[in-house]
Amino acid sequence: MPGPPSDENGKKRNFAAGSAILSPGPRPGPHCFREQRPRRGGAGPGARGEAKVSACTTLRVTWDGLTVGWLKQPARTTDMSFEYDPGWLGGGHPAISLSLPLSGQRLDARTSKNYFGNFMPEGEALSWIAAWKRVSGADPFDFLAKFGTEVAGALSIFPIDDPPRPMSAHPIDDGSYRDVTDIVIKSLHSSKKENFNLVVATNSKISLAGAQNKLPIYWHDNKILIPENNSDAPTTHIIKPESTRFKHLQFNESFCMDLALAIGLPVPESEIIYLDKIPIFIVKRYDRKYDSHKKLQRIHQEDFCQAMNIDKAYKYQENNGPGISDCTIFLLNTVKISNFEHYNFIKCIIYNYLIGNCDAHAKNFSIIHNIDFNNLSKNNATYSLAPFYDLVCTIYYPMLSKTLAMFLGYNKNHEILSIDSLNKLKNDFNIDINIFLDLIYSLLDEINTKLNYIYEKHISLHGFHHFYKKLYNIITSNSRNLKKQLDGLSNRSRLAGPGATTGHGQRRD
Ligand SMILES: Nc1ncnc2c1ncn2[C@@H]1O[C@H](COP(=O)(O)OP(=O)(O)OP(=O)(O)O)[C@@H](O)[C@H]1O
Ligand SMILES: [Mg+2]
Repeated sequence: MPGPPSDENGKKRNFAAGSAILSPGPRPGPHCFREQRPRRGGAGPGARGEAKVSACTTLRVTWDGLTVGWLKQPARTTDMSFEYDPGWLGGGHPAISLSLPLSGQRLDARTSKNYFGNFMPEGEALSWIAAWKRVSGADPFDFLAKFGTEVAGALSIFPIDDPPRPMSAHPIDDGSYRDVTDIVIKSLHSSKKENFNLVVATNSKISLAGAQNKLPIYWHDNKILIPENNSDAPTTHIIKPESTRFKHLQFNESFCMDLALAIGLPVPESEIIYLDKIPIFIVKRYDRKYDSHKKLQRIHQEDFCQAMNIDKAYKYQENNGPGISDCTIFLLNTVKISNFEHYNFIKCIIYNYLIGNCDAHAKNFSIIHNIDFNNLSKNNATYSLAPFYDLVCTIYYPMLSKTLAMFLGYNKNHEILSIDSLNKLKNDFNIDINIFLDLIYSLLDEINTKLNYIYEKHISLHGFHHFYKKLYNIITSNSRNLKKQLDGLSNRSRLAGPGATTGHGQRRD
């Protein structure tokens, strides 16, 4: 079994402990000045090596309105560092990440950048936003200064001299949201590629990780609303439109999420909505909820890269990112998930294999921070595995890599899992062979029972596309092959006798 992967310097990483290196630093203060950005190739400040006028060097980080701390970065550097606010520390509040322990000292640049950089979009989504809004795709501080007000989880990040208007009790009526339904429709009908990115098209200040074109929205009366610029109002849903490169992507994700729900995996509600006949995938945010006063609240979450202190560049196992064994150790020992969550994690990994998803990387899993704000002095944060998201059949698209984001046993690519691979996988999951077999057999049974129903449902809702037939065939063929190999593992373990079963890992009920 290979050991933990190495970092970019060839050093071994310990993913289970996402601890930060602490370094002392000056107290944060109000050092934020407005910067006039240089025009490319033109005259004006910043052109031809002239000095920039000023730079914002401090961002405020809040948790549902409360100041958590300060992100600082000297101008013309990417050396950002985070420091908790004394008020947050003194109030018995929790750490915002398993990788950012509570401390009165400034956290080092690498740890700070690993955590905050993971809020940024990636790939094409980032390129569009970076180009059109003139932000540096390589500078999370610069990016979050402009797009940090609404991100994944409970935090908001914004320049200290440009604070958002706190959300009122009646955000719909007081103009906290802006209706962008027509802009979104126009953008999706447009043949101009630059109009296609929804964050750009709607001139929005909100951001989510990931490479797909998407927009966090407030879904209200069949209208797409977004927080009005300078408003701290949260969103409730995420929309993902048609993809120019990956045909039927929205139907694909909707089908895979729906099948997951049908077989009992914890996933947020999702569906396809039609806006002016354009099909769009919409999913409910599990990190938002209404409190007893019907006020929308943010629930804190962080993805595995954030929690394990890993730069987003290392989200794939093939790039030294975490694998199944690293995630399992992290979940059992650090997050301290229940047996039920452990089983769900195993089922989700196998489910991803069955639907042909090679992209289930470390940022496609998250943990929820469960905080009792009425009982803060005990600092009683507990953590749980977040519902599963981004479940998509990627092997449908020939141009996408068949290398698994996390290897399955000895399998690095999406192909039939050998009995040896399954046996290794069972060890990587730190699970008893009999439980492992039960979990997968019952998953296969569930899929066998529900697949036809979901297939018929989606065809009747959205019409027949060959895509559906192809996806159906991928899932049935993967299931058949897995069942065969599982029978082999089961026979082998029976022949080996009771001594072949391994003990349980460290799990709590
Ligand atoms: N239903 C949800 N509720 C809350 N947060 C979510 C939900 N779905 C996704 N997220 C957050 O948004 C981020 C981006 O979402 P998602 O993974 O679906 O995007 P993507 O662009 O398809 O990603 P990728 O680049 O992996 O293809 C996730 O990493 C997660 O933090
Ligand atoms: Mg994703």
